[in-house]
Amino acid sequence: MSEIYWNGEYKKKHEVGIPPDDRGFLFGDGVYEVVRIYRGRCFEMSAHEHRLLQSASGIGINIGYFKGMLEVAENLLRRNILPNGDGILYYQITRGTAPRKHFFPGEGVLPNHYAYVQPLPVTDFKERPGASVVTLPDRRWLECHIKSIALLGSVLAAQQAKEQGAVEAVLHRDSVVTEGSHTNVFAVVEGVLKTHPANQLVLNGITRRIVLELAQQEGLLYEETSLSLSELKSASEVFLTGTTVEIWPVTQLDGKPVGNGQTGPITQGLQSLFDRNADRLT
Ligand code: PDD
Repeated sequence: MSEIYWNGEYKKKHEVGIPPDDRGFLFGDGVYEVVRIYRGRCFEMSAHEHRLLQSASGIGINIGYFKGMLEVAENLLRRNILPNGDGILYYQITRGTAPRKHFFPGEGVLPNHYAYVQPLPVTDFKERPGASVVTLPDRRWLECHIKSIALLGSVLAAQQAKEQGAVEAVLHRDSVVTEGSHTNVFAVVEGVLKTHPANQLVLNGITRRIVLELAQQEGLLYEETSLSLSELKSASEVFLTGTTVEIWPVTQLDGKPVGNGQTGPITQGLQSLFDRNADRLT
């Protein structure tokens, strides 16, 4: 049983023919979200929905008929089996289907909504090995706060990292660390937890925001500030955050150990505070 959501309907994946003139297919002209599902319930759904709507309005997509992500997620969860109810929801909206012209199609063209759920087991922080990452130039566009499906810069960086035996690329622009290809990046530099400010050069990650809330709650020293590549390389701890990776310690950076090559105390503390239950589930 594997059903997806396509423009108001639930169908078997193979029954859905994505129109060749879909602007997502032709131009990468669309936006998306990835939401974590724990035991059949969505994590931080309203934050994801808010960001989806912001991304859509950021590139002038009128989202049209919208059931809300939660209703779609619940219907997909009824129609698909996720072991232990753990997985992700992918939700994408493109500008619609129209003959290829660069400018927006006319008012009558409706957006295409596509969503699916997919299993993803809960991470055991103690079992998962530390991440090995490489630093690479950030070749993406300058509006990374918009969660656009046009991900070529991220795809090329992720592939380059993989070819170098790493699990993620940590990107830098003018020697300032921005974020990963699909994660935000934090580093502990001289006892201060640092991450790039949430401006147009990075995605304002929902996991990033949770980590900052936890840091504040715990009275940790933290700054949303420019982190230079050399600071990153001398950091005592580095970790990645994101919906799929949650909080992932980086233990190897460009082939060299970070700190003593083990998960550091601040990262470990934040992992133990990262609560997948509480009031964040709907
Ligand atoms: N990526 N930065 C980038 C470029 C991302 O693509 C993501 C998420 C994040 C982390 O954001 P959040 O904590 O809200 O998931 C940061 C998703 C998971 C993806 O593309 O698969």
